[in-house]
Amino acid sequence: MNTNNPADKPATPPVNTSDTTADIAAAAPASAAAATAAPSSVSAETQAALASTAHAPNSPGATHIRSFVHRRGHITQGQLAALERLMGEWSIPYAPRRLDPATAFGRQAPTVLEIGFGMGETTEKIALARPDDNFLGVEVFNAGVGSLLRRIEDSNISNLRIIQHDAVEVVRDMIAPDSLAGVHVYFPDPWPKKRHHKRRLLQPAFVSLLASRIAPGGYIHCATDWEDYAVQMLEVLSGEPLLANTVDGYAPRPDYRPLTKFETRGLRLGHGVWDLIFKRVA
Ligand SMILES: C[S@@+](CC[C@H](N)C(=O)[O-])C[C@H]1O[C@@H](n2cnc3c(N)ncnc32)[C@H](O)[C@@H]1O
Repeated sequence: MNTNNPADKPATPPVNTSDTTADIAAAAPASAAAATAAPSSVSAETQAALASTAHAPNSPGATHIRSFVHRRGHITQGQLAALERLMGEWSIPYAPRRLDPATAFGRQAPTVLEIGFGMGETTEKIALARPDDNFLGVEVFNAGVGSLLRRIEDSNISNLRIIQHDAVEVVRDMIAPDSLAGVHVYFPDPWPKKRHHKRRLLQPAFVSLLASRIAPGGYIHCATDWEDYAVQMLEVLSGEPLLANTVDGYAPRPDYRPLTKFETRGLRLGHGVWDLIFKRVA
């Protein structure tokens, strides 16, 4: 066991006290909108499944600064119906114990974790294009989970499972050290205001935790359309001793990553896009 691994120590990161929830919600990018409570038309079972994500950033249950805010977001009838019908089939409930991927996927195959899949367009395309890999998508946003559940059903995808929970806790509690073939973090919420940078997902402690979960030879692939977040990612990933850059600086977008909705919007706004691909060293 790597004793420098934050995951192997009790979770004692700082609890945020300075921002009010309203302040954070106002500053949160629209893409970060995560519906708080399940709509009342949802069954008790679905309510229970969704309740585990209903921590506000400053809630007493939160032991670290959250990279997302819960808001009541729009959810379509189709997404709601998918949550109702398909959660039990394709989602794995968060639990503070190690997940056995062979049991979860019903087969032994390399497992790739995707954090923050949004509406799941990219996740669907990659899972279909790489049938020999297992994909574990983690997202907090109800509409996004409903959307990906629909895609799983419509496209008959069998190599994809969803966990609806804070990825920090999923990685810390459910993913075994040295186990992942890859990690995808595409267009994480940029939290553009300087005083909110502490909410960005890719901070040294979390990257160190993630790196410890990747198998030697496995990879982490991040992408962003925010230049200063790209600079931060390059600094943080380069500073992690368990990781080595696959190229000098930013990587060209690999063929397996299709253009995402956020990327298309960023390009329209004149933003650049930066990919970063690092390998886990032995
Ligand atoms: C800007 S969106 C990008 C979505 C998608 N990757 C794309 O490129 O279209 C970021 C997503 O990450 C999710 N997210 C943020 N922090 C998260 C966390 N700690 N755990 C799980 N999901 C998270 C948000 O709910 C949001 O859907």
